[in-house]
Amino acid sequence: LLNATAKRIVASLVNQRAFAPVVRPLLQAANYASRVQDGQRTEPLSYDQPHRAKGVRLIRQIYAERGMLLSLPEAYSIFAAVKQTTKVPGDIAEVGVYQGGSSKVICEAKGARHLHLFDTFAGLPSPKDIDRPDFTEGRFACSLDSVRQYLSSYSGVTFYEGLFPDTAGPVSNHKFSFVNIDVDIYDSTKSALEFFYPRMSPGGVIISHDFSAGGVTAAFDEFLSDKPEALIELVGDQCMIIKIG
Ligand SMILES: C[S@@+](CC[C@H](N)C(=O)[O-])C[C@H]1O[C@@H](n2cnc3c(N)ncnc32)[C@H](O)[C@@H]1O
Repeated sequence: LLNATAKRIVASLVNQRAFAPVVRPLLQAANYASRVQDGQRTEPLSYDQPHRAKGVRLIRQIYAERGMLLSLPEAYSIFAAVKQTTKVPGDIAEVGVYQGGSSKVICEAKGARHLHLFDTFAGLPSPKDIDRPDFTEGRFACSLDSVRQYLSSYSGVTFYEGLFPDTAGPVSNHKFSFVNIDVDIYDSTKSALEFFYPRMSPGGVIISHDFSAGGVTAAFDEFLSDKPEALIELVGDQCMIIKIG
Protein backbone atom coordinates (compact mmCIF):
# COMPACT_ATOMS: atom_id res chain seq x y z
CA LEU A 1 0.00 0.00 0.00
CA LEU A 2 2.84 2.37 0.94
CA ASN A 3 4.58 1.57 -2.31
CA ALA A 4 1.39 2.30 -4.31
CA THR A 5 0.86 5.62 -2.51
CA ALA A 6 4.47 6.63 -3.08
CA LYS A 7 4.13 5.78 -6.77
CA ARG A 8 0.93 7.90 -7.05
CA ILE A 9 2.71 10.89 -5.52
CA VAL A 10 5.70 10.48 -7.82
CA ALA A 11 3.37 10.08 -10.83
CA SER A 12 1.61 13.35 -10.02
CA LEU A 13 5.00 15.09 -9.77
CA VAL A 14 6.00 13.74 -13.20
CA ASN A 15 3.05 15.58 -14.71
CA GLN A 16 4.52 18.86 -13.54
CA ARG A 17 6.85 19.70 -16.36
CA ALA A 18 9.64 21.18 -14.22
CA PHE A 19 10.06 18.01 -12.15
CA ALA A 20 9.75 15.51 -15.00
CA PRO A 21 13.44 15.10 -15.96
CA VAL A 22 14.36 14.20 -12.40
CA VAL A 23 11.27 12.34 -11.33
CA ARG A 24 10.64 10.19 -14.40
CA PRO A 25 13.80 8.03 -13.98
CA LEU A 26 12.91 7.61 -10.31
CA LEU A 27 9.45 6.41 -11.27
CA GLN A 28 10.92 3.93 -13.75
CA ALA A 29 13.25 2.63 -11.04
CA ALA A 30 10.34 2.34 -8.58
CA ASN A 31 8.27 0.40 -11.15
CA TYR A 32 11.18 -1.93 -11.78
CA ALA A 33 11.79 -2.44 -8.05
CA SER A 34 8.14 -3.19 -7.35
CA ARG A 35 7.94 -5.73 -10.20
CA VAL A 36 10.98 -7.50 -8.82
CA GLN A 37 9.48 -7.40 -5.32
CA ASP A 38 6.13 -8.76 -6.57
CA GLY A 39 7.80 -11.68 -8.33
CA GLN A 40 6.62 -10.29 -11.68
CA ARG A 41 10.11 -9.73 -12.92
CA THR A 42 10.01 -10.03 -16.68
CA GLU A 43 13.72 -9.90 -17.41
CA PRO A 44 15.53 -10.87 -19.52
CA LEU A 45 12.72 -10.25 -22.02
CA SER A 46 12.05 -6.65 -20.96
CA TYR A 47 15.71 -5.69 -21.36
CA ASP A 48 15.24 -2.44 -19.47
CA GLN A 49 18.32 -2.62 -17.24
CA PRO A 50 20.62 0.38 -17.73
CA HIS A 51 23.69 -1.72 -18.56
CA ARG A 52 21.81 -3.14 -21.57
CA ALA A 53 20.67 0.22 -22.93
CA LYS A 54 23.45 0.58 -25.52
CA GLY A 55 22.94 -2.90 -27.02
CA VAL A 56 19.15 -2.59 -27.03
CA ARG A 57 19.31 0.82 -28.73
CA LEU A 58 21.64 -0.59 -31.38
CA ILE A 59 19.38 -3.58 -32.06
CA ARG A 60 16.28 -1.37 -32.39
CA GLN A 61 18.23 0.84 -34.80
CA ILE A 62 19.14 -2.19 -36.94
CA TYR A 63 15.48 -3.32 -37.07
CA ALA A 64 14.55 0.15 -38.29
CA GLU A 65 17.32 0.64 -40.86
CA ARG A 66 17.89 -2.88 -42.24
CA GLY A 67 15.89 -5.65 -40.54
CA MET A 68 17.24 -8.77 -38.87
CA LEU A 69 15.88 -12.29 -38.48
CA LEU A 70 16.55 -12.41 -34.74
CA SER A 71 14.37 -11.33 -31.82
CA LEU A 72 15.68 -8.65 -29.48
CA PRO A 73 16.78 -11.17 -26.79
CA GLU A 74 18.50 -13.31 -29.44
CA ALA A 75 20.36 -10.36 -30.94
CA TYR A 76 21.26 -9.15 -27.45
CA SER A 77 22.72 -12.57 -26.56
CA ILE A 78 25.09 -12.19 -29.51
CA PHE A 79 26.00 -8.63 -28.54
CA ALA A 80 26.74 -9.69 -24.94
CA ALA A 81 28.69 -12.83 -25.89
CA VAL A 82 30.89 -10.91 -28.34
CA LYS A 83 31.69 -8.34 -25.66
CA GLN A 84 32.27 -10.99 -23.02
CA THR A 85 34.75 -12.91 -25.18
CA THR A 86 36.99 -9.86 -25.62
CA LYS A 87 39.74 -11.45 -23.54
CA VAL A 88 39.56 -14.78 -25.41
CA PRO A 89 42.26 -14.90 -28.11
CA GLY A 90 41.13 -15.26 -31.69
CA ASP A 91 39.02 -13.81 -34.50
CA ILE A 92 35.26 -13.75 -34.88
CA ALA A 93 33.20 -15.44 -37.62
CA GLU A 94 29.59 -15.52 -38.71
CA VAL A 95 28.17 -18.09 -41.10
CA GLY A 96 24.75 -16.93 -42.30
CA VAL A 97 24.92 -13.19 -42.87
CA TYR A 98 21.88 -12.51 -45.09
CA GLN A 99 21.36 -8.71 -45.00
CA GLY A 100 24.06 -8.13 -42.40
CA GLY A 101 21.81 -7.24 -39.44
CA SER A 102 23.41 -9.67 -36.98
CA SER A 103 26.82 -8.86 -38.50
CA LYS A 104 26.33 -5.23 -37.50
CA VAL A 105 25.50 -6.31 -33.93
CA ILE A 106 28.86 -8.14 -33.92
CA CYS A 107 30.71 -5.19 -35.52
CA GLU A 108 29.54 -2.87 -32.75
CA ALA A 109 30.78 -5.23 -30.01
CA LYS A 110 33.92 -6.79 -31.51
CA GLY A 111 36.54 -4.17 -30.64
CA ALA A 112 39.78 -4.75 -32.55
CA ARG A 113 39.05 -8.39 -33.40
CA HIS A 114 38.77 -9.37 -37.07
CA LEU A 115 35.33 -10.48 -38.32
CA HIS A 116 35.02 -13.10 -41.10
CA LEU A 117 31.58 -13.16 -42.76
CA PHE A 118 30.52 -16.26 -44.73
CA ASP A 119 27.43 -16.57 -46.90
CA THR A 120 26.45 -17.86 -50.31
CA PHE A 121 24.61 -14.52 -50.74
CA ALA A 122 22.43 -16.66 -53.06
CA GLY A 123 20.31 -18.02 -50.22
CA LEU A 124 20.07 -21.40 -48.51
CA PRO A 125 21.66 -24.48 -50.08
CA SER A 126 19.55 -27.57 -50.73
CA PRO A 127 17.92 -28.82 -47.48
CA LYS A 128 17.40 -32.41 -46.30
CA ASP A 129 14.14 -34.10 -45.23
CA ILE A 130 15.03 -33.48 -41.58
CA ASP A 131 15.11 -29.70 -42.16
CA ARG A 132 12.18 -27.37 -41.54
CA PRO A 133 9.98 -27.43 -44.66
CA ASP A 134 9.97 -23.63 -45.03
CA PHE A 135 13.78 -23.52 -45.20
CA THR A 136 13.77 -23.92 -48.97
CA GLU A 137 16.70 -23.69 -51.37
CA GLY A 138 17.48 -20.10 -52.36
CA ARG A 139 15.57 -18.51 -49.45
CA PHE A 140 17.28 -15.47 -47.86
CA ALA A 141 19.28 -14.41 -50.92
CA CYS A 142 20.81 -10.94 -50.61
CA SER A 143 23.38 -9.08 -52.69
CA LEU A 144 26.89 -9.05 -51.23
CA ASP A 145 27.37 -5.47 -52.50
CA SER A 146 24.47 -4.20 -50.41
CA VAL A 147 25.84 -5.89 -47.25
CA ARG A 148 29.33 -4.57 -47.97
CA GLN A 149 27.84 -1.10 -48.28
CA TYR A 150 25.81 -1.50 -45.07
CA LEU A 151 28.90 -2.44 -43.04
CA SER A 152 31.34 -0.15 -44.85
CA SER A 153 32.08 2.01 -41.81
CA TYR A 154 33.63 -0.89 -39.87
CA SER A 155 37.26 -1.96 -40.18
CA GLY A 156 38.58 -5.50 -39.86
CA VAL A 157 35.74 -7.18 -41.76
CA THR A 158 36.27 -9.74 -44.57
CA PHE A 159 33.55 -11.29 -46.75
CA TYR A 160 33.63 -14.82 -48.19
CA GLU A 161 31.01 -15.44 -50.88
CA GLY A 162 30.00 -19.01 -51.69
CA LEU A 163 29.11 -22.30 -50.07
CA PHE A 164 30.67 -22.81 -46.64
CA PRO A 165 32.94 -24.76 -45.91
CA ASP A 166 34.33 -24.52 -49.48
CA THR A 167 35.11 -20.85 -48.75
CA ALA A 168 36.83 -21.46 -45.38
CA GLY A 169 40.37 -22.16 -46.72
CA PRO A 170 41.75 -18.64 -46.02
CA VAL A 171 40.94 -18.94 -42.29
CA SER A 172 41.99 -22.56 -41.76
CA ASN A 173 45.01 -21.47 -39.68
CA HIS A 174 43.07 -18.97 -37.54
CA LYS A 175 41.82 -19.30 -33.97
CA PHE A 176 38.40 -17.99 -32.97
CA SER A 177 36.93 -16.41 -29.84
CA PHE A 178 33.32 -16.14 -31.01
CA VAL A 179 31.34 -17.71 -33.86
CA ASN A 180 27.70 -17.05 -34.78
CA ILE A 181 26.10 -19.82 -36.84
CA ASP A 182 22.79 -18.86 -38.44
CA VAL A 183 22.39 -21.19 -41.39
CA ASP A 184 19.00 -22.83 -40.64
CA ILE A 185 19.71 -26.32 -42.01
CA TYR A 186 21.45 -29.57 -41.04
CA ASP A 187 24.31 -29.77 -43.57
CA SER A 188 25.41 -26.18 -43.10
CA THR A 189 25.22 -26.33 -39.30
CA LYS A 190 27.17 -29.60 -39.17
CA SER A 191 29.92 -28.26 -41.46
CA ALA A 192 30.19 -25.04 -39.45
CA LEU A 193 30.55 -27.01 -36.20
CA GLU A 194 33.12 -29.38 -37.74
CA PHE A 195 35.17 -26.48 -39.03
CA PHE A 196 35.06 -24.07 -36.09
CA TYR A 197 35.00 -26.35 -33.04
CA PRO A 198 38.68 -27.41 -33.31
CA ARG A 199 39.66 -23.82 -34.03
CA MET A 200 37.96 -22.27 -30.97
CA SER A 201 40.27 -20.95 -28.24
CA PRO A 202 39.54 -22.25 -24.74
CA GLY A 203 36.65 -20.13 -23.40
CA GLY A 204 35.52 -19.32 -26.95
CA VAL A 205 31.78 -19.26 -27.58
CA ILE A 206 29.69 -20.66 -30.44
CA ILE A 207 26.05 -19.52 -30.68
CA SER A 208 23.62 -20.97 -33.19
CA HIS A 209 20.15 -19.81 -34.20
CA ASP A 210 17.14 -22.00 -35.09
CA PHE A 211 18.00 -24.51 -32.43
CA SER A 212 14.46 -25.92 -32.48
CA ALA A 213 14.55 -26.55 -36.23
CA GLY A 214 14.97 -30.32 -36.72
CA GLY A 215 18.12 -30.15 -38.81
CA VAL A 216 19.94 -27.79 -36.46
CA THR A 217 19.00 -29.84 -33.37
CA ALA A 218 20.21 -33.03 -35.05
CA ALA A 219 23.48 -31.43 -36.15
CA PHE A 220 24.26 -30.30 -32.56
CA ASP A 221 23.17 -33.60 -30.99
CA GLU A 222 25.33 -35.64 -33.37
CA PHE A 223 28.31 -33.33 -33.22
CA LEU A 224 28.41 -33.02 -29.43
CA SER A 225 27.75 -36.71 -28.72
CA ASP A 226 31.49 -37.40 -28.23
CA LYS A 227 32.53 -33.93 -26.95
CA PRO A 228 32.79 -32.79 -23.33
CA GLU A 229 31.07 -29.42 -23.83
CA ALA A 230 27.53 -28.87 -22.53
CA LEU A 231 24.85 -27.62 -24.91
CA ILE A 232 23.29 -24.54 -23.33
CA GLU A 233 19.84 -23.53 -24.50
CA LEU A 234 19.31 -19.75 -24.52
CA VAL A 235 16.23 -17.55 -24.42
CA GLY A 236 14.53 -17.56 -27.81
CA ASP A 237 15.64 -20.11 -30.39
CA GLN A 238 19.39 -20.17 -29.83
CA CYS A 239 21.88 -22.55 -28.26
CA MET A 240 25.45 -22.01 -27.15
CA ILE A 241 28.58 -23.98 -26.41
CA ILE A 242 31.67 -22.76 -24.58
CA LYS A 243 34.87 -24.47 -25.69
CA ILE A 244 36.59 -26.12 -22.77
CA GLY A 245 40.12 -26.77 -23.93
C1 LIG B 1 18.46 -16.87 -41.73
S1 LIG B 1 19.67 -16.25 -42.79
C2 LIG B 1 20.78 -15.41 -41.71
C3 LIG B 1 20.14 -14.27 -40.99
C4 LIG B 1 21.06 -13.26 -40.35
N1 LIG B 1 22.04 -13.87 -39.46
C5 LIG B 1 20.24 -12.24 -39.58
O1 LIG B 1 20.19 -12.30 -38.35
O2 LIG B 1 19.63 -11.38 -40.21
C6 LIG B 1 20.53 -17.72 -43.21
C7 LIG B 1 21.68 -17.47 -44.17
O3 LIG B 1 22.52 -18.62 -44.16
C8 LIG B 1 23.13 -18.72 -45.43
N2 LIG B 1 23.68 -20.09 -45.57
C9 LIG B 1 23.08 -21.25 -45.19
N3 LIG B 1 23.91 -22.30 -45.42
C10 LIG B 1 25.07 -21.79 -45.92
C11 LIG B 1 26.31 -22.35 -46.35
N4 LIG B 1 26.56 -23.69 -46.28
N5 LIG B 1 27.26 -21.53 -46.83
C12 LIG B 1 27.05 -20.19 -46.90
N6 LIG B 1 25.89 -19.59 -46.51
C13 LIG B 1 24.92 -20.38 -46.03
C14 LIG B 1 22.02 -18.34 -46.39
O4 LIG B 1 22.50 -17.90 -47.63
C15 LIG B 1 21.27 -17.23 -45.61
O5 LIG B 1 21.74 -15.95 -45.98
